[in-house]
Amino acid sequence: MQGVKTLGQFIIEKQADFPYAKGELSRLLRDIGIAAKLVNREVNKAGLADILGDAGSTNIQGEGQKKLDVYANEQFISALQSGGECCIVVSEENDEYLYIDSEISKNAKYIVAIDPLDGSSNIDVNVAVGTIFSIYRRKSTEGKATMDDVLQQGTQQVAAGYVIYGSSTMLVYTTGKGVNGFTLDPSIGEFCLSHPDMQMPKDGNIYSINEGYYTHFPDGIKKYIKYCQVEDKPTNRPYTSRYTGSMVADLHRSLIKGGIFIYPMTAQAPSGKLRLVYECNPMAFIVEQAGGKASNGYSRILELEVTDLHQRTAIVIGSEQMVKKAEEMLACFSPQITKRTFEGLVTIQ
Ligand code: AHG
Ligand code: MN
Ligand code: MN
Repeated sequence: MQGVKTLGQFIIEKQADFPYAKGELSRLLRDIGIAAKLVNREVNKAGLADILGDAGSTNIQGEGQKKLDVYANEQFISALQSGGECCIVVSEENDEYLYIDSEISKNAKYIVAIDPLDGSSNIDVNVAVGTIFSIYRRKSTEGKATMDDVLQQGTQQVAAGYVIYGSSTMLVYTTGKGVNGFTLDPSIGEFCLSHPDMQMPKDGNIYSINEGYYTHFPDGIKKYIKYCQVEDKPTNRPYTSRYTGSMVADLHRSLIKGGIFIYPMTAQAPSGKLRLVYECNPMAFIVEQAGGKASNGYSRILELEVTDLHQRTAIVIGSEQMVKKAEEMLACFSPQITKRTFEGLVTIQ
């Protein structure tokens, strides 16, 4: 029987893939893995400890923070602070970016953006939640890293990953050379390689969208939903619908089984809901690395201009063929949204 390979062993083996790396990125990924285990421990016993429910505070998006949002945020920030490889943390839960000002971080080269707990509304009801992270190398070579270092396009990511706290806990990440998945073995407390070189099926038959907002969707999205529901044997339709309210869980399923996840622009939210820097860009990087496709319905997510830490974008992401079909529908039935969206003038009738 072949022995298990732990995340730590795997990261060290892969270090040679980076000519410029001196082990800093490896240490950073290891630190994130450690924080994920601590968060996993709390998520697992959430019903027993007094950590369910609201924290009584709101984040910059005006969303109520759960106690576990706050806990997860603290764990990741503290792991990044004590690791010494990260100079700036951007988090969904912090209005501004956090500059790490300490002796061990004075030469730190990396910037980390995180959604510490994704799918918070699912915490209290025991449905899978996740963590999303994105890693950039700072552009400037001296002095304090600045906002300019932070606002980099998604194509500049050097690594990205997510953790899913589900029926088992997994960490999935990419450094731009494919995607690998590790399952936490609770008996030894280690993430072990379980899904090497993950490939997203090119096509699928599961679509994932909050249909409750149907009336607010642009016509192109409405047409795509109808396309998914129509009976057509050769293309295996109607498709199946699955939506948990945790993007990480919905995309993890799509990555393995094939599928599409859509969070479109709506009349109420012309730029969609999900955040570019710490939700969409990292997921887009992973999905592309696994052979899938990610766009805002019109343009590639990874090439969108980043102007704000918490900026939102619509997202259409998943199996290549499915995303192409949804884009076709948008181009055909909602061509006007493209222009108006970028000008911030969306009016959806
Ligand atoms: P978060 O918990 O980090 O705020 O993210 C929740 C996100 C995403 O995970 C999910 O797909 C989506 O919001 C659900 O939103 P709706 O309830 O509007 O469908
Ligand atoms: Mn989220
Ligand atoms: Mn979150």
